[in-house]
Amino acid sequence: MRMVDLIQQKRDGGRLSREQLYDIVRGFTRGDIPDYQMSAFAMAVYFRGMDEEEIADLTLAMASSGDVVDLSGIHGTKVDKHSTGGVGDKTSLIVVPLVAAAGVPVAKMSGRGLGHTGGTVDKLESIRGFRIELPKEQFIRNVNENKMALVGQSGNLAPADKKLYALRDVTATVNSIPLIASSIMSKKIASGADAIILDVKVGSGAFMKSLEEAKTLASAMVSIGKSLNRRTIAVLSDMSEPLGTEVGNATEVAEAIEVLRGHGDARLTEICLTLAAYMALAGGAYPNFAAAKLGLKELLDSGQALATFRKFVEAQGGDPAIVDDPGQLPQAAYQVKVRAEQEGYVQAIDAEAVGVSAMLLGAGRATKEDPIDYAVGISLRKKVGDAVAFGDVLAVIHSNREQNQDSMERLLHAYAIGADKPELVPVVYEVIE
Ligand code: URA
Repeated sequence: MRMVDLIQQKRDGGRLSREQLYDIVRGFTRGDIPDYQMSAFAMAVYFRGMDEEEIADLTLAMASSGDVVDLSGIHGTKVDKHSTGGVGDKTSLIVVPLVAAAGVPVAKMSGRGLGHTGGTVDKLESIRGFRIELPKEQFIRNVNENKMALVGQSGNLAPADKKLYALRDVTATVNSIPLIASSIMSKKIASGADAIILDVKVGSGAFMKSLEEAKTLASAMVSIGKSLNRRTIAVLSDMSEPLGTEVGNATEVAEAIEVLRGHGDARLTEICLTLAAYMALAGGAYPNFAAAKLGLKELLDSGQALATFRKFVEAQGGDPAIVDDPGQLPQAAYQVKVRAEQEGYVQAIDAEAVGVSAMLLGAGRATKEDPIDYAVGISLRKKVGDAVAFGDVLAVIHSNREQNQDSMERLLHAYAIGADKPELVPVVYEVIE
């Protein structure tokens, strides 16, 4: 069938068969289907949607368009996690060693950050000597020996998705549940794990701004996972303010170490324990969720999770001394305090605005090619619900520039301060499995 007929079929509200979706994905990956036709197809899906079977078929077609990682050399049930992205989201740095310390293998591939959200791989590269690329045999060996390895995503993982995402980005078709769900899940399926825990972020700093939208996306991804025989659980979690207190790269690594020491921010620790508990449960380490959370908390408090993180850093060429002394991570030249200009309680912190401020300081990239300054970032000294007096420090800017007036103003605007103490939203809204 010609591509024009398949576009028309979808445009008119019809469904596409597995063979038709495979033909589209194969043709597009090879370059036989031009960008203008693929864009029209994405727009037809945007307006007409897809049923569960179509989404699963599209996912599998994209997952098999490039490398499919073979993790069969790793003993045990391999679990993976994915976050839909947010500001200050350093959960992978905490959750992966925590789950590994419980004996469940995690062979993780992570992406780089773009725009106002950071990437795990960039954060890890702030550690002197750390290598995010490992030969495949070493990746497998490290997971077997230390139960964890974390590398950058291979360039040829789900190339159809990479090409399609670039088109969606410039044709106003990113925000489509079937396209987002199949995009995320195609990379997870190609990454080879047996079980997938999804952290679907909700709020001003996330892709999904409302709980309803987030639930629809989570359900679509869980149903893809099920139909492709991967145990899949989605945790809907809050991203209405930045996660934890640090936004940056080296500063986020330092905060992750603090949580692994058992002394981290309470909300950040809670979401990490929840995600880790579902991963450890899927990996068969505990009989139920309550036992998993309790057991994992002990692994934090006893220092076992931190010890796993130290071994992981060393095994990938990083300097393990930073684990005992995070002060050895890159430090910015200037620390600039942003002070409150009114008193009251913090009602809200615009996560996206904080993310953009950090990016403009050099902690993130506006385009793929931009270099990163690992030392810079923002420390939030007041979070939602905290009382504030006039002149209190709301945030500290870590900068390598002498002039930071623009960042100070942007951060001041990101804080909403009002008279009444606000109700805190839950850290975890719901779990879909
Ligand atoms: N993240 C992805 O990987 N794909 C999307 O479509 C949206 C977010």
